[in-house]
Amino acid sequence: MRIVVTGSAGRLGRSVVQGLVASGHEVVGADRAASGIRSVDERAIDLLDAAAVAGLFDEVRPDAVVHLAAISVPFSAPELDILSTNTALGYTVAAAAAAAGVGRTLVASSPTVLGYGRPGWRPTALPLDEREPVQPANAYALSKTVLEEEVRMFARTSAGVFTSFRPCYVISPEEWAGAPTQQGHTVLERLRDPALAAVSLFNYVDARDAADFVEAWLAADPAAVDGECFFVGAADALAVEPVAALWRRYVPALGDAADGIGAGQPVFSVAKAERLLGWRPTRSWRDLVPGGVDAVAAPPAAHAPATAASTATASSAASAPVTAASTASAATPAAPANAAAPVAPRGTAASTTSAPAPATPVTAPSTTTPATPTPAPQIERVP
Ligand SMILES: NC(=O)c1ccc[n+]([C@@H]2O[C@H](COP(=O)([O-])OP(=O)(O)OC[C@H]3O[C@@H](n4cnc5c(N)ncnc54)[C@H](O)[C@@H]3O)[C@@H](O)[C@H]2O)c1
Repeated sequence: MRIVVTGSAGRLGRSVVQGLVASGHEVVGADRAASGIRSVDERAIDLLDAAAVAGLFDEVRPDAVVHLAAISVPFSAPELDILSTNTALGYTVAAAAAAAGVGRTLVASSPTVLGYGRPGWRPTALPLDEREPVQPANAYALSKTVLEEEVRMFARTSAGVFTSFRPCYVISPEEWAGAPTQQGHTVLERLRDPALAAVSLFNYVDARDAADFVEAWLAADPAAVDGECFFVGAADALAVEPVAALWRRYVPALGDAADGIGAGQPVFSVAKAERLLGWRPTRSWRDLVPGGVDAVAAPPAAHAPATAASTATASSAASAPVTAASTASAATPAAPANAAAPVAPRGTAASTTSAPAPATPVTAPSTTTPATPTPAPQIERVP
């Protein structure tokens, strides 16, 4: 297939184009920046320029478009800039694809649409899946929510297939090797201090697994994916200890149902992608961090619950603001704002939709109460 990948020079884009090229596709990367990947035909383009995007699609005549370009880190720019840029990028690319008669368009959204960094947020059921209500709580998450709606609109109104996906915290091959992740700290640091991964509910995905998802989507029955949205995450959590052993200290909002998340299991389910696309992640941090689990032997201080300040320091986005809520929460170590509330395991009567249960439903929630709950970090800067 001939495929245009926007954001091809980015953390995820580089793995997606390399995966597609390796599978024999003809790939054109579209980005303001250059990826430096020799085997890819790259075009320097401002994707906010609708005429330029239309011109590119007219020239390339792609069978598929994978739209990844975005301001990809929450709070890395003024909120209005993030909202307007990401929604305009998504609309410009999707509208051009619809007008050019592109057969398939895939758009990157984000798990943050669920709003899990917000004080007071509670899951309706665990593991989290595509049935969980969308409740964006910052401009980045709102922009992704709009993008998902844009996708549904074009799915409804045009001939092509339009799909969105929510990649978890993307880790690229060079980041496994020690390069800083998008939050500025390394994977090893993220594993050594659970507070760092707690803000994304310990989610992650290897960039090559996400690339494999793109391939599975390209091959999928159009009727199965048109207008749909998929979580794309690893099959395990980015943590040495099970989520069941961590949530009270780091994410009390998850509630007792998190006790049912088994050792190694993630908070996010990718059962829908497996069911409809036959895709499943195959890469685990345990095999990819040099030295594996043994290398994560954390110094004692690293296991102390993080404060907002310590989490902010770890971020590359030094200017990322701490929300008023997060500051208040950090300064008030009594009952956490996101204190545990009863949450049903997915697939019980609490779930009101008829969609199938995930492949690995959790067991009934425990009634154990945390002895001394500590406020979870309330900074939401993770896409
Ligand atoms: N990295 C993650 O953990 C993560 C998680 C969830 C969702 N996402 C989403 O996945 C997508 C890819 O993420 P990433 O980490 O690779 O991002 P990235 O920031 O590494 O790459 C984004 C790319 O988009 C390009 N771009 C931005 N605006 C552009 C414009 N106007 N014209 C041309 N190019 C432009 C940038 O040059 C950059 O190369 C994004 O949409 C992001 O929001 C990422």
